[in-house]
Amino acid sequence: MGILDKKVVLITGTGGGLGRVAAQTFAREGAKVVGCDIKVDANNETVELVRRAGGEMTGIAPIDLTDPEQARTMVEDAVAAYGGLDVIYNNAAIQYFGPMPDFSIDDWRATIAGELDIPFFVSKFAWPHLVRRGGGVIINVASAAGMIAHEAPLMVGHVAAKAGVIAMTRQLALEGARHGIRAVAISPGPFLTPAADRDLGDNQAARDAITRKTLLKRFGQPAELVELAAFIASDRASYITGANYLVDGGETAW
Ligand SMILES: NC(=O)c1ccc[n+]([C@@H]2O[C@H](COP(=O)([O-])OP(=O)(O)OC[C@H]3O[C@@H](n4cnc5c(N)ncnc54)[C@H](O)[C@@H]3O)[C@@H](O)[C@H]2O)c1
Repeated sequence: MGILDKKVVLITGTGGGLGRVAAQTFAREGAKVVGCDIKVDANNETVELVRRAGGEMTGIAPIDLTDPEQARTMVEDAVAAYGGLDVIYNNAAIQYFGPMPDFSIDDWRATIAGELDIPFFVSKFAWPHLVRRGGGVIINVASAAGMIAHEAPLMVGHVAAKAGVIAMTRQLALEGARHGIRAVAISPGPFLTPAADRDLGDNQAARDAITRKTLLKRFGQPAELVELAAFIASDRASYITGANYLVDGGETAW
């Protein structure tokens, strides 16, 4: 018995670092997982990993969730896969970094689209299905960057978009309560995904700059975030809504 037995969970961005581990963890806890991504090979790999471990997962890719029409179709396909949806895990995002005032208008718009449009579109199209089911849970992956300013790297678009995700989550919780929908944000500090690990290589100075503000002086490992997400998605968290949980190694504590 897992804490998510019989739940149907839609996870966006399951080709990526945190989304892949979310799919594996939610499936291990008994959920039927629908996972989507713009990247086909990476998403297929996640489906394969989940199934090989005995879990249940359906993949939908490629899908560009910044396009509302594609987001709508993806949600309908996800509903069709297992006959409904109980949990929406808004994890997919793309963001760009750069200093003021050089951060370009294009990068600003792409960051707002990649971080704020995506969870809004998916939540909007999934909402009637959750209502029809008598309720459900929306978990939005925000960021510690939505709470405090950051200097490595400089990230005006990212902080604005993720603060928007936290604010949107509160509003979804307010509007969802009467339908039995809980909405919760989780805000990671710096997490080491395989892609980030590859990009940083042996550049210890860059690694230290990113983790400097954490009290634990290290990156988080994906499981340290998604174990909390699995709990929030479960019925054990039935009194939790409208909250934002920081999982940041103490980055925002000082
Ligand atoms: N890794 C960190 O340190 C960290 C810190 C704070 C917040 N976060 C948040 O956690 C979430 C996951 O991050 P990650 O580190 O695993 O990143 P990632 O880049 O490894 O994964 C994101 C996934 O989303 C997919 N995606 C991007 N744009 C898409 C689109 N338009 N349509 C469909 N899929 C799309 C990507 O292909 C990728 O597989 C993001 O919301 C990110 O902002 C991560």
